Amino acid sequence: MGCVSLSADVTPGFTSRTLPHSAPLSIRSGRPGNLLGDVGDSPSLISTDSRHHDLHFSIAAEIGEAGELVTDPSADPIAPARPFVKWAGGKRQLLPDLLHRVPHNFRHYHEPFVGGGALFFALTEQKRLETKAVRLTDINVELINTYRMVRDRVETLIALLSTFKNDEAFYYNIRSLDLQQLDSVQRAARFIFLNKTCFNGLFRENRKGQFNVPFGHYKQAQICAPNDLRAASQALRGVCLEVASFAEIAQACQPGDFVYCDPPYAPVSRTASFTAYNGGGFGDEDQQKLADVVRQLGQRGVQVLLSNSAVPLTYALYRDLHVEEVLARRAINSRGDRRGLVPELLVAAGPLASELLARRQTVSQPAATLR
Ligand SMILES: C[S@@+](CC[C@H](N)C(=O)[O-])C[C@H]1O[C@@H](n2cnc3c(N)ncnc32)[C@H](O)[C@@H]1O
Repeated sequence: MGCVSLSADVTPGFTSRTLPHSAPLSIRSGRPGNLLGDVGDSPSLISTDSRHHDLHFSIAAEIGEAGELVTDPSADPIAPARPFVKWAGGKRQLLPDLLHRVPHNFRHYHEPFVGGGALFFALTEQKRLETKAVRLTDINVELINTYRMVRDRVETLIALLSTFKNDEAFYYNIRSLDLQQLDSVQRAARFIFLNKTCFNGLFRENRKGQFNVPFGHYKQAQICAPNDLRAASQALRGVCLEVASFAEIAQACQPGDFVYCDPPYAPVSRTASFTAYNGGGFGDEDQQKLADVVRQLGQRGVQVLLSNSAVPLTYALYRDLHVEEVLARRAINSRGDRRGLVPELLVAAGPLASELLARRQTVSQPAATLR
């Protein structure tokens, strides 16, 4: 499903982005005969009995058929927009370093490995994406479907999610559902629910493409955060969301655009790294191909910023580009329960490389910026 181009000044594949309106939000049903009440009033919806989760979704399906729940643009202000999923490799940690290296001026914004979208939401909060076309892509089909549902059907999604329970039997029932039998908003509710209640917020599939992360046993899993979802929905208004491999990004980019690449990191050791966001993983060949794409984009005048682990492979792949080291707080043992400062690489290509070099010369900082 493609996005529609609405204005002449917009890159093909984008919708033109309207200014995010700051109007507050509330809930009303799309049609008379309030469906929110139907969902909220039905105790059977929160049963953990396997016979009932089908009922759950069959009632949920009626929401979609009978009328969409919509957000009222005249209610209270909402929370700051931030990632609505926990995501392995999420960049909240590194945000100050990334924000500091965003070009002063750029045309459109692209994130080809969007994951939880930490930088996108931070830039939105700082109002640095207003009036710009934005294209967020990822290879994970369920993730992008969820972004679309947060953007387009947030109240229906909230109504569904608010009936889910942090319960082990319920978790395995929802996990075992056949995606083919669910509509898009039900799939999104399942995705968010599994993300919030599974072990470590991981996304991992078996060879058949079935989600296989076990239940997380968290006492305080926040399955539904309505105002966070509404804030994310507002931030995503007018944003183009596509399932795509990074290899396709070059077609959508034009000189002056800004691209932030946050691929699965090159492994620091055989056991330390998690790259299985999709069945295929992300090996050395992908890292090599990505480095080629980054270099080509830079040569065409596209401004690229990339983050990756600081390992011999990445130093070699980006040796001719602008490279800076930063320190990030990461898990430093295999159980992930001890954290320490680990060097990571930030690479810039195109006009951004010259801008960062000039900035560094102005403040005469050392070559490696270790925070
Ligand atoms: C490190 S995560 C991105 C994290 C993100 N920056 C955040 O703040 O949450 C890497 C992402 O790359 C995606 N990915 C893996 N292989 C890909 C490919 N070949 N093309 C595009 N995306 C891919 C994964 O699904 C995952 O969401």
